[in-house]
Amino acid sequence: MNCWFHLCFVFSICPAMTHETGTSTTRTVPGNTSAKIKKCSTKDAEIFMGEVNTRLTNRKSQSSQDWKDIGELEKVLESTNVTSTTSISSGHLVALLHQAKSPTRLTIYANNSEVYFETVPNTKVLVHLPKDLGAGPNNTIVFCMITWPETNGTVLGAQGLLYENILVGLSVSGKNVSGLQERVNITMNVTTPINETHEPRCVFLNFSTQNYGSEGCQTLWERNQTYITCSCDHLTYFGVLMVNSSPSPSDQKILSYITLIGCSLSLFGLSITVLLFITHKKFRADVSMKVHISLVFALILLNVHFLPSEMVAALSSNSLCVYMALALHYSLLATFSWMALEGFHLYLLLVRVFNIYIRRYLLKLSVVGWGVPAVIVSLVVIIDRTAYGYTPVDSRNPNGTAICYVTNTTMMMVTTMGMIGLVFIFNVIMLGVTVRRFISLRQGQETNCSRVKQDIFSLLGIATLLGITWGVGFFSITTAGQYVFCILNSLQGFFIFLWFVMSLRKMQKSAAEVSNATQSTTEPKN
Ligand SMILES: *[C@@H]1O[C@H](CO)[C@@H](O)[C@H](O)[C@H]1NC(C)=O
Ligand SMILES: *[C@@H]1O[C@H](CO)[C@@H](O)[C@H](O)[C@H]1NC(C)=O
Ligand SMILES: *[C@@H]1O[C@H](CO)[C@@H](O)[C@H](O)[C@H]1NC(C)=O
Ligand SMILES: *[C@@H]1O[C@H](CO)[C@@H](O)[C@H](O)[C@H]1NC(C)=O
Ligand SMILES: *[C@@H]1O[C@H](CO)[C@@H](O)[C@H](O)[C@H]1NC(C)=O
Ligand SMILES: *[C@@H]1O[C@H](CO)[C@@H](O)[C@H](O)[C@H]1NC(C)=O
Ligand SMILES: *[C@@H]1O[C@H](CO)[C@@H](O)[C@H](O)[C@H]1NC(C)=O
Ligand SMILES: *[C@@H]1O[C@H](CO)[C@@H](O)[C@H](O)[C@H]1NC(C)=O
Ligand SMILES: *[C@@H]1O[C@H](CO)[C@@H](O)[C@H](O)[C@H]1NC(C)=O
Ligand SMILES: *[C@@H]1O[C@H](CO)[C@@H](O)[C@H](O)[C@H]1NC(C)=O
Ligand SMILES: *[C@@H]1O[C@H](CO)[C@@H](O)[C@H](O)[C@H]1NC(C)=O
Ligand SMILES: *[C@@H]1O[C@H](CO)[C@@H](O)[C@H](O)[C@H]1NC(C)=O
Repeated sequence: MNCWFHLCFVFSICPAMTHETGTSTTRTVPGNTSAKIKKCSTKDAEIFMGEVNTRLTNRKSQSSQDWKDIGELEKVLESTNVTSTTSISSGHLVALLHQAKSPTRLTIYANNSEVYFETVPNTKVLVHLPKDLGAGPNNTIVFCMITWPETNGTVLGAQGLLYENILVGLSVSGKNVSGLQERVNITMNVTTPINETHEPRCVFLNFSTQNYGSEGCQTLWERNQTYITCSCDHLTYFGVLMVNSSPSPSDQKILSYITLIGCSLSLFGLSITVLLFITHKKFRADVSMKVHISLVFALILLNVHFLPSEMVAALSSNSLCVYMALALHYSLLATFSWMALEGFHLYLLLVRVFNIYIRRYLLKLSVVGWGVPAVIVSLVVIIDRTAYGYTPVDSRNPNGTAICYVTNTTMMMVTTMGMIGLVFIFNVIMLGVTVRRFISLRQGQETNCSRVKQDIFSLLGIATLLGITWGVGFFSITTAGQYVFCILNSLQGFFIFLWFVMSLRKMQKSAAEVSNATQSTTEPKN
């Protein structure tokens, strides 16, 4: 039966053609396959729909045949002869075919059994079609809604449950509609409650890969909202998948507490570190320590501006928010640049130990460390004056939690993600060089437990200073990854404080131990 169905189509005979007289004409299949099919009558289309409905209902398991059936259904509907507007329904399928004399905006309402240009009882789906679909008098606009029969599994191999098992197909005969200026909006009423741990995501059927895609589709929904809107820039079959919200609201709450506690601890530790630096001459005499303390200052700035950011965003003071955004961005960039300079300094220390002499070394480092972020921030302001201000944390939820930061997404990505990426790659290489150096230093020496422990401790300290933890962000797609990222990064300042304290103890114990390269006292002199 399946095979017959398929062959029929390929051999360009409309499935129910035998019922009709020979008034049909031939035309090219939409999509310009070389096959020709005959123009179907409404009756043909209805029979075809009934056939697809039976097949979907009776299908025992998922198969790629489902994809083919839907694709063919669309072609049949597109090539159905309509004079103006026709509504067809059969079982779980309803369709509306419309031939527009001139381009207009259309609003389509559908319930499980009917579809019209005006409201129907128990509206399930509401579609707003834009004017510029490019549909002329020769093109049929096709709307089709499939309410998938109850299945034991997921619909068409979806990664989640398809909301109310509804697929909404939209197409224009003879055209591939994509890249729409004004988007098409498909709205579904929320009738089944949405689980707290889940959220809807608008998807469409990608027939070429037989998979779901979401590019070009926005999901407009907030928790407790009574409808879900999918706003897409092309036409195909659309559906709403229920996916696990990640991180879930309760995880988000825990993460924000972790951040608050971690950053407060860091701020406290970093302040003590500055005090230690001021009160200990040995620290002040050491160039490496001066580099570290610059990073400490950058981190203090970062934490000071990050901690109250959410609170400031909640106040409705625009100028304060712009200042906070600017300062937060600057201190984040300064943190990155000082982490990179830590890497650079380490490289000089380890690889070119004795043969460097750089005039005004610290001054030059400082110009880079504090100057580069200033240049970037200035450029952002020059390019877009409104780049700083109130920024929702989740762009899909504009009324949700917000902070003061870079509002322009492109600039935020380029300056923040771009910089983090570069610094991370650079510092991973530096860490690799360090590890190699450690290994070669230790070669020939007998392994001694306390020495190994000391080395591991030193390497961990270096990794913290180099900000390797920030790289975890690139892998924090999973909730667990987000926890790791959050804990490690909010505590970075505190770890640096611990490292300072340990260094101090070690310094006091053995003032003249040169062998430990990380603590080297053979600095480049300025
Ligand atoms: C479409 O149907 C109308 C009448 O329903 C008929 O006159 C016309 O010839 C048909 N057109 C095609 C292309 O089949
Ligand atoms: C529409 O897209 C399909 C593949 O996605 C392509 O094969 C076909 O040629 C396109 N048709 C038109 C009219 O652009
Ligand atoms: C459509 O198919 C015909 C042959 O069937 C071919 O000559 C023509 O170039 C195709 N048009 C497009 C836009 O691919
Ligand atoms: C859909 O609307 C039609 C009339 O517009 C109505 O007769 C029918 O009962 C409605 N179907 C459902 C499931 O509510
Ligand atoms: C769906 O939404 C429309 C418009 O928002 C409303 O008129 C209709 O009553 C709703 N239907 C249900 C079943 O909630
Ligand atoms: C769809 O929604 C978007 C934004 O919500 C709006 O700009 C657009 O005009 C809407 N499209 C139609 C056809 O109403
Ligand atoms: C519609 O089709 C007819 C006959 O196939 C053709 O003469 C006419 O130019 C077409 N109109 C448009 C707008 O493509
Ligand atoms: C779902 O699974 C149950 C038990 O595995 C089976 O009895 C039932 O027929 C299945 N339903 C469908 C629609 O496949
Ligand atoms: C939400 O989903 C989880 C797991 O999927 C389930 O344990 C829980 O009972 C569901 N809650 C509601 C309100 O449906
Ligand atoms: C379908 O998926 C392929 C491969 O991922 C992609 O190239 C293509 O653009 C997708 N089609 C649509 C309509 O997005
Ligand atoms: C949604 O509604 C529930 C109960 O009505 C409430 O507890 C919850 O805070 C609401 N969530 C949002 C985001 O408004
Ligand atoms: C956000 O809140 C404003 C005012 O409180 C409201 O007008 C607007 O509709 C809300 N936006 C969304 C997407 O809910």
